Amino acid sequence: MIVFVTGGSRGLGRAIVRAATAAGHDVGFTYVADAAAAEETLGLAGPGRCRAWQMDTRDPQQVDAVADAMLDAFGSVDVVVPNAGITRNGMAATMPDAAWRDVIDTNLSGAFYVARAFLPTLVGQRRGRLIFVSSIARDGIAGQANYSAAKAGLVGLAKALGKEYGARGVTSNVVVPGFFETDMTRGSMSRTLKDFAAAAGPIDRVGQPAELAAAVMFLASPEAAFVNCAVLPVTAGLDWAP
Ligand SMILES: NC(=O)c1ccc[n+]([C@@H]2O[C@H](COP(=O)([O-])OP(=O)(O)OC[C@H]3O[C@@H](n4cnc5c(N)ncnc54)[C@H](OP(=O)(O)O)[C@@H]3O)[C@@H](O)[C@H]2O)c1
Repeated sequence: MIVFVTGGSRGLGRAIVRAATAAGHDVGFTYVADAAAAEETLGLAGPGRCRAWQMDTRDPQQVDAVADAMLDAFGSVDVVVPNAGITRNGMAATMPDAAWRDVIDTNLSGAFYVARAFLPTLVGQRRGRLIFVSSIARDGIAGQANYSAAKAGLVGLAKALGKEYGARGVTSNVVVPGFFETDMTRGSMSRTLKDFAAAAGPIDRVGQPAELAAAVMFLASPEAAFVNCAVLPVTAGLDWAP
């Protein structure tokens, strides 16, 4: 299998790169700023071939150029995981335009640009998997109006693509991570939200990135061929937050 992952330099994306290369798959991944982290991911990759590209997913021209480079390097692609994401938290009444736009552009528009760039290849070969990375914020989290809107949007986007292209052999699904130990949660989650997750989660710990990667690998597998337009929670049962 040939796999493309955005935001593979750190966190959940890195875990997906590691799981896919460990299984012998070829993987191309992207980072936006942290070249050292991308190098580290390359060093951690398993036996599958692995390459990294710098790309800002907010910019459709950069996305198209990296998609072309990916297809040149690997000859094709089977699995596309638009995983890159950011948070810019704050109450809606005082949220600056830039915080709204950055989060929507990165998490939602960026995922669309990536899917669109690879769809002609996936549809042309009548085989492909789109796997989007949403969040329990899709149901709304206080202080994350921008992030919640983007993550809810991904569910609609994924289902629309699954309906447009399912008949052509391209499935489109969503994983919904709960709370995982990454830079994102270490850096920007409020104390209140962390306390809530620890207290309210049916399983009394945060997830490890490899556990999310395992769900992505299932959706990428031949066994998941009949899974389309699905929303798979990997939340340990903590399916909402205040
Ligand atoms: N961690 C959680 O508990 C959790 C829960 C629910 C959903 N998620 C979702 O899972 C995904 C991964 O999150 P994470 O926790 O692994 O985050 P993370 O550790 O902060 O890593 C974010 C990744 O996205 C890349 N990125 C950020 N802005 C970008 C842009 N404009 N263009 C391209 N790449 C960009 C980063 O690249 P650089 O390294 O170059 O900065 C990095 O590789 C996100 O979509 C997030 O919303 C995470």
